Amino acid sequence: MTDEPGEKSTLADKSNLPRRRFLKAGIVGISGVLGIAYLGIIGRYLAPPAIGSDPLLPVGKADDFALDSPKLVAYKYGGIEQGVYVINTSDEGWIALDFHCTHLQCAVNWISAIKKFACPCHGGVYDMKGHVLGGPPPRPLYRRVIRIQGNSVMVGGRIG
Ligand code: FES
Repeated sequence: MTDEPGEKSTLADKSNLPRRRFLKAGIVGISGVLGIAYLGIIGRYLAPPAIGSDPLLPVGKADDFALDSPKLVAYKYGGIEQGVYVINTSDEGWIALDFHCTHLQCAVNWISAIKKFACPCHGGVYDMKGHVLGGPPPRPLYRRVIRIQGNSVMVGGRIG
């Protein structure tokens, strides 16, 4: 048996066959394990946190958030970078929106010139409170727990 078309089979080729199979099986096995581990790591970065899973953490001073002007705050929890838009709205008070698009979890950007969130991946558009205005997102941006304690803004896990 030969590996390449047109090559002649030799006794040495045949004696190497079990070792080749063993090496191929090892490479496939190691690749599979690494692939599964990689998917797990990527999934943790892409998926928004589970409901109620995060403690309240300080993300800034209330004075530093202008009215009706979403501000992205980033912090680490459980070794994972978190991104949350904190908004002091004039009609609803403080809200916090997870920055993951609800379509395929890309990070949305606040575009102050048009006062909308835009997703760079597939054109999803949300209003300042995270309601879907256009594109493929199936639901509003996820809200996160937010509390104002003194002058400190505290953000926690997903509400719904
Ligand atoms: S990931 Fe945002 S529109 Fe697809």
